[in-house]
Amino acid sequence: MRMRRIKWAVDYLDQALCLVRKPEKYKGKWKQQLGCEKLHVEIGCGKGNYSLNMSKLYPQEGFIAVEKNESAAGITAKKYDEDNEKGKLSFIHGDAENIDEWFAEKEVDVIHLNFSDPWPKNRYAKRRLSSAKFLDSYKNILAKDGEIQMKTDNAKLFAFSLIEFQKAGFLMKEVDLDYRSEPHPEDVMTEYEEKFVANHQPIYRCVWIR
Ligand SMILES: C[S@@+](CC[C@H](N)C(=O)[O-])C[C@H]1O[C@@H](n2cnc3c(N)ncnc32)[C@H](O)[C@@H]1O
Repeated sequence: MRMRRIKWAVDYLDQALCLVRKPEKYKGKWKQQLGCEKLHVEIGCGKGNYSLNMSKLYPQEGFIAVEKNESAAGITAKKYDEDNEKGKLSFIHGDAENIDEWFAEKEVDVIHLNFSDPWPKNRYAKRRLSSAKFLDSYKNILAKDGEIQMKTDNAKLFAFSLIEFQKAGFLMKEVDLDYRSEPHPEDVMTEYEEKFVANHQPIYRCVWIR
């Protein structure tokens, strides 16, 4: 779904403090930079609530949110800049296609894919964040026992992803077809997730180990 352009948000990006403007500069040094031993990367963070709230829940761990849409990025950046209670949190405005340039081999402990765009038409399947090319990059930057946690409301994207993960050689650790039917205080909800849960839609979740 294309987000409409929000001028103030796009303009805000120029002055955003939380934004890492040259992420490749920190390649291999993110843990040192954030002062953490465990590093999470959320790809396609939208308006940013997930990484922000997870960074508060796990103040010792580092979180890097990535978003390519400039309006969503501007909203996230302003939110992060204004929140004085955030944890170890950084933000990259960019396309995850470049993720290999930003992170070194085995640098990341957890990758989060939350309610990724489904790209339902087959001709756009390569844009899905759980498609083969992305999974190859994730495999490269994930630590030895690193994992990918994926949540979605979209059954077709979920089915597609299960096959892609398996083909790419990941090992399934968890799978859940109605994740929020049980309380999960250890994992906060994203903006999209809150809406789906309010509509009583099931949340599909899987966790894969490298
Ligand atoms: C459906 S929204 C979900 C937002 C948020 N994760 C949530 O659950 O509320 C998907 C987001 O992923 C972003 N996205 C899609 N492909 C991306 C890519 N290649 N790199 C970075 N962000 C991407 C989109 O711009 C959009 O903001």
